[in-house]
Amino acid sequence: MYILAPSLLAADFGRIKEQLNILEEENISWLHLDIMDGMFVPNISFGQPLIKSIRKDTKLFFDIHMMVHDPIRYVSDFAACGADSITFHYEAARKPDKVIDMIKELGVKVGMAVKPATPVDVLKPFIDDLDMILVMSVEPGFGGQKFMPAAYDKLKTTKEMITASGRDIRLEVDGGVVVDNIKSIEQSGADVLVAGSSVFGGDIAGNIRLLTERLK
Ligand code: DX5
Ligand code: ZN
Repeated sequence: MYILAPSLLAADFGRIKEQLNILEEENISWLHLDIMDGMFVPNISFGQPLIKSIRKDTKLFFDIHMMVHDPIRYVSDFAACGADSITFHYEAARKPDKVIDMIKELGVKVGMAVKPATPVDVLKPFIDDLDMILVMSVEPGFGGQKFMPAAYDKLKTTKEMITASGRDIRLEVDGGVVVDNIKSIEQSGADVLVAGSSVFGGDIAGNIRLLTERLK
């Protein structure tokens, strides 16, 4: 069963609580939170104080996407803010196995992400320890970019890798997911579909209905 995970990055930050209520009314269960450090990616988003503050207002599953250089430095901070899942970039970690261990010790689900140019094979040595794999379908750093079609094949290969592992691993896709491509993306194997602009741009409830309608 798929999960639609709206990305907070595209929300109106002056009306977060109201917008989270709309998500919950529309039966959304996950919220995708993009942490950008201005080093791993050329942009800065938001950090721990914001997450802590909205944690009080919502029961949504917090899916943290760390676009942070040397992520091990901040893993416990984000766990303490109420993360349910922490995904870090393979490319950003010196010792990915250590980051995985730390996230697991904190009792949080663990995911690993790959940028568009990184082959998903790099994740194979870690597959027995992952709860989720995130395939980026845009260069990380900014919302509102166009989906890169090369991600379709990458998703299929990753799905095969997951099936071969025999493990229950979620496959998340992030970047450029819109009404017109969401069904083909899901058919390529993704089961967690992140959507920023296509959810928060305009009528949130209406957008969610259009996206979920396409997935039927
Ligand atoms: C990009 C972020 C995405 C972003 C997606 O680096 O990881 O989560 O918010 O935004 P859209 O859906 O607008 O492409
Ligand atoms: Zn993201």
